[in-house]
Amino acid sequence: HTSELSADAVSLGLFDHYMQKETFEQPEVVANTLEMVSGAQSISPQLFGASALELFPKITNILILACGTSYHAGMVARYWLEDVAGIPVNVEIASEYRYRKSVAQSNTLIITISQSGETADTIAALQHAKELHNGLSAVTLSICNAPESALTRQSQLKFLTRAGPEIGVASTKAFTTQLSSLFVLTLVLAKVNGHLSVAQEADYLKQLRHLPAAMQQVLLLEDQIKPWAKAFADKDHALFLGRGIHWPVAMEGALKLKEITYIHAESYAAGELKHGPLALVDEKMPVIAIAPNDGLIEKLKSNLQEVRARSGELYIFADRDTQIETGEGVHVINLPDHAGLLSPILHTLPLQLLSYHTALERGTDVDKPRNLAKSVTVE
Ligand code: G6P
Repeated sequence: HTSELSADAVSLGLFDHYMQKETFEQPEVVANTLEMVSGAQSISPQLFGASALELFPKITNILILACGTSYHAGMVARYWLEDVAGIPVNVEIASEYRYRKSVAQSNTLIITISQSGETADTIAALQHAKELHNGLSAVTLSICNAPESALTRQSQLKFLTRAGPEIGVASTKAFTTQLSSLFVLTLVLAKVNGHLSVAQEADYLKQLRHLPAAMQQVLLLEDQIKPWAKAFADKDHALFLGRGIHWPVAMEGALKLKEITYIHAESYAAGELKHGPLALVDEKMPVIAIAPNDGLIEKLKSNLQEVRARSGELYIFADRDTQIETGEGVHVINLPDHAGLLSPILHTLPLQLLSYHTALERGTDVDKPRNLAKSVTVE
């Protein structure tokens, strides 16, 4: 069975497509997801369940299991959890993990991330993880958009994303609410581990309170993105580049583009360019770069010069401090101020809009792309 909602039950309102509606709903649903957090003076483990207070302090490592877009949320979260909470993290594609005899560690927090809570591979991966970690004091946590689902029922702890029903097959608001939830988890675990000062906690909470407004600002870039979508409409291929925490954002950007426009899109950690994908670059290959002003920006800039030297046309999502100039073969859209650790959430939005408008240009079925299903409840 599936927890999928019928499209008829949710009105489109003034929007043409569910994906469009769900993209623009993101500031609101992220605010809803963070409601219990941003109103509070401090964060507590109980946000993840009553027993989290007792279970979280024992955690020494984390295993994240998910599929598709939810897997990309896990990939982003790894950077946060290692950087802020100081906990080692493995992120695994559920369909691979479930068939691998990996070596389990003790005191693992096993996290499943899922919009539907019913993805067959993710459920099977959780069962497999429980067997491998049997007797090793593992704790299970599900980050899920469906309150009563197989994954939440089979996990000790849960945190519900409050994205509301997501109808578009290509995930948008589920992803950004997952990221918001995973950032909260990061703060909670950092606090439990003594990695978070009172001042840092207050500062991060302030950033989270500001997040919906910051997202709203980014969505205003839509008119600047539309001409890019026109340029993409007759492309056969596209390459998405990012580094560090923005590499999984590039992965998600490429996934969105292939899902709804059927353009072949690949994503690469930009440092890997020289080990292969650079051979693909010519004037017909648009290269999209996720280029906020983070610690790796200078590295990324030199990767982008390599692309330009091979006549690749650059489409760069930067932020105000990145300081990349528009020029011959170099298109730049600047997001507002650099958002620090929350930057991956903001940089996801223009990629969703780029795919959406490219799909409109190509006339593909935005909400129901060919060959894909909203939740994959069989293997
Ligand atoms: C399907 C959907 C994707 C989704 C993936 C995982 O492939 O089309 O949008 O990311 O399943 O779904 P889940 O419900 O587990 O997040």
